[in-house]
Amino acid sequence: MSKPDTNIIYNIDCIEGMQKLPDNSVDLIIADPPYNLSKGGDWKWDNSVKLEGMGGNWNKVMQNWDDYTLESYFEFTKMWLTEAKRILKPTGSMWIFGTYHNTGIINVVCQLLKIEIINEVIWYKRNAFPNLSGRRLTASHETILWCNKGAKKREYYFDYEYSKNGRFPGDLLKSEGKQMRTVWDISNNKTKEELLYGKHPTQKPLKILKRMIRLSSKKGDIMLTPFAGAGSECVAAKETGREYIGYETDTVYVEIANTRLEHASIETDEVMEETPSSESSSITNEKPKANKRRGKAKATTNTDKEPNVKAKDKEPVEYEQLTFTLDT
Ligand SMILES: C[S@@+](CC[C@H](N)C(=O)[O-])C[C@H]1O[C@@H](n2cnc3c(N)ncnc32)[C@H](O)[C@@H]1O
Repeated sequence: MSKPDTNIIYNIDCIEGMQKLPDNSVDLIIADPPYNLSKGGDWKWDNSVKLEGMGGNWNKVMQNWDDYTLESYFEFTKMWLTEAKRILKPTGSMWIFGTYHNTGIINVVCQLLKIEIINEVIWYKRNAFPNLSGRRLTASHETILWCNKGAKKREYYFDYEYSKNGRFPGDLLKSEGKQMRTVWDISNNKTKEELLYGKHPTQKPLKILKRMIRLSSKKGDIMLTPFAGAGSECVAAKETGREYIGYETDTVYVEIANTRLEHASIETDEVMEETPSSESSSITNEKPKANKRRGKAKATTNTDKEPNVKAKDKEPVEYEQLTFTLDT
């Protein structure tokens, strides 16, 4: 099987792009699809845009790429996920971002296509922007589905050692040396460097993308992102020593992404945000050692207590940059 060309962001529709790739040709897919939140009108600070079934009016990330009917969003999701499943290796993983507006549809389509959901991760944004109206709770999480191809034999790669013993400074829900949970406490703030060459209204922080990449792929693997936006997934792949393929329909974002990529370079282990104390032994589906775990059961049962976080690892309470929809 020929290896696809890598380290390119194609300015084309992702379905068209993925159709050109051979079966079982990529190791990792990180998808940040349209949320289907934009329903006509212009960006406004008032609450003038009604979103059926989502309670009240919303201010929108007003972008054409994000405007579907419910039925067409379902069909679109089925089409891109069909191709994503086909090109993903049996050892591969797929991570899909969503909010309650679209994650239900994505979950149902995964089940219809027999894409197996390994975990549903809650990305907890401690610094979420406050709710302006005081008429509902402050939206402070996104949902991420971690999936595999769903073959009979589970072959997906998982760096269990990294998940348990890697360093995750700033995540108050991750205790050192304890298994990683499905709630991740990661700020949505981007660093100055991440925004230096332009930005995207739903830009994801490199920190969360690098965590996904390190959990489920090896150096040299190919990461594909169907919705590249400002290129965050590709930059995260490059900086962690993976190859990348991206698709993005908007030329402006392709240009931002390419500029970011020109300035990105592979991180040395010393400066990695979440460096394991030594290069982790990467093992496919390594299970925790039963005896060791049993022996420690008493010490680990009370996992709800506050993790021991060093002061330097605590992040200042700052509201996230306003890059996403606000409901009012
Ligand atoms: C949610 S954003 C991704 C943002 C990205 N994660 C980042 O950090 O910059 C989705 C992107 O997908 C693009 N897009 C929408 N439909 C597409 C399609 N069918 N093929 C390729 N790109 C598409 C949009 O232009 C938008 O930039």
